[in-house]
Amino acid sequence: MTVHDDVTRTMVDFLQMKSFADDPLVLTDGDGIRVVDVEDRWYIDGLSGTFCASLGHGNAALADAGAAQLRRLAMAAPTMATNDRALELVDRLLGLLPADYTVAKLLSGGSEATESAMKIARQYHKQTGDAGRYKILSHYRSYHGATGHAVAASGWPVWRAPYEPLAGGFIHLHTPDPFRPPFDVAPEAVAATYLRLVEETIELEDPRTIAALITEPVLMSAGVVVPPDGYLPGLRALCDRHGILLIFDEIITAFGRLGAMFAAELFRTWPDILCVGKGLSGGYAPLSAVVLARRVADAFWGEPRDLVQFHSGHTYGANPVACAIGLAAIDQLVRDDLAANAVAQGDRLRAGLRGLRERHPWIGDVRGLGLLVGVEFVADHASRARFPAEAAIGTRVRDAARRRGLLLRASHWMLVLAPPLTIRAAEVDEIIGILDAALGDVEAAGDGLAPGSGSVAPAAAPGRPR
Ligand SMILES: Cc1ncc(COP(=O)(O)O)c(C=O)c1O
Repeated sequence: MTVHDDVTRTMVDFLQMKSFADDPLVLTDGDGIRVVDVEDRWYIDGLSGTFCASLGHGNAALADAGAAQLRRLAMAAPTMATNDRALELVDRLLGLLPADYTVAKLLSGGSEATESAMKIARQYHKQTGDAGRYKILSHYRSYHGATGHAVAASGWPVWRAPYEPLAGGFIHLHTPDPFRPPFDVAPEAVAATYLRLVEETIELEDPRTIAALITEPVLMSAGVVVPPDGYLPGLRALCDRHGILLIFDEIITAFGRLGAMFAAELFRTWPDILCVGKGLSGGYAPLSAVVLARRVADAFWGEPRDLVQFHSGHTYGANPVACAIGLAAIDQLVRDDLAANAVAQGDRLRAGLRGLRERHPWIGDVRGLGLLVGVEFVADHASRARFPAEAAIGTRVRDAARRRGLLLRASHWMLVLAPPLTIRAAEVDEIIGILDAALGDVEAAGDGLAPGSGSVAPAAAPGRPR
């Protein structure tokens, strides 16, 4: 059986397997910022798996932490017990946060965390005398996960439409995109204008029916949208004014990715409920957490007869092996000050990519914070008009980059890079060089507008770079 036949028997997330099978990517090993496939082709993992392998691949300390715990206790019945590693991790996690966060519930995936956060918000209002609040506000173009409520809160039609009708009570807000505001105002008025739209939505929906607002501090799926200055504090103020809980989905943005332990720190805006995942275990185990501010947590503390506990959980939540790895990951993040490296290397990456603009005028905007970097393509700089979707600029550049040994994420109008936080300057420069060449490949292939108008450079089958 060929690799092609093998992969047709599985489903890779979000991908059409018919085309994936034509050019499958089957990874076998990793080392530092690189991974290798079954054909022995090495790639820079420009996305840290999916934003989680922040500490690189083949990390012995994380592997050892997991192996040691596997020998001691691999599973602690999550419906009747917790475990020593989980308690240590909660302590470590809360120790990184302001004292107002008093409880963390450990789970195994990002969707479990956001789903739980929204349930907690609804239940909180029910047991604090505000049972009429059930609506959840979120942004268009966001992604909050694959489970029922998480999909309902997510904001791209392509992920929602196949599963509609989704749960009711989910209301979407404009993406706070400073590069493409849907109105014509001076840059300094963009945040206030988006906030006015949010306020109007809150008023028209009736604030007394709204339980929570969930947002990523930097909206990755929206196109690495860094909200304009003042937007997140403005959301905080609106939530406070209207009795709405603010949930931050920091599944991607926490644990150094943006150059601080939490994006909330950078934006000086703290939510009532904080969801973290991905980088929490460096991608070495499924691990996530929902962290509650005191007033939220307190509403779940009561007599058994009151039934105010959180009526939900997951088999692998607070798994001791995942928690042991999480502890080791946090130790390494702090010890090596990887948040600082994310700032330095992220700045270097953005500067390098901006430097490519002269040679590759399709690059319309390079943005992001720390090592979460987005590149948006434009057909025209003055109007910021996009190429037609069929031109598939982003995905063609992604494919050309893969041929040259770099994995990244793309849509037809964007590229996203989020390499491991352990990356060094020379490796950042290597990424810039590959992208330069990949853009050149796509430009050379034709007019850049017609799909398949030429072929990009033949597969280079990169060997193991030194
Ligand atoms: C911002 C955000 N929230 C939630 C999720 C869901 O996480 P998971 O895939 O671990 O369920 C993701 C996944 O990429 C994400 O990017």
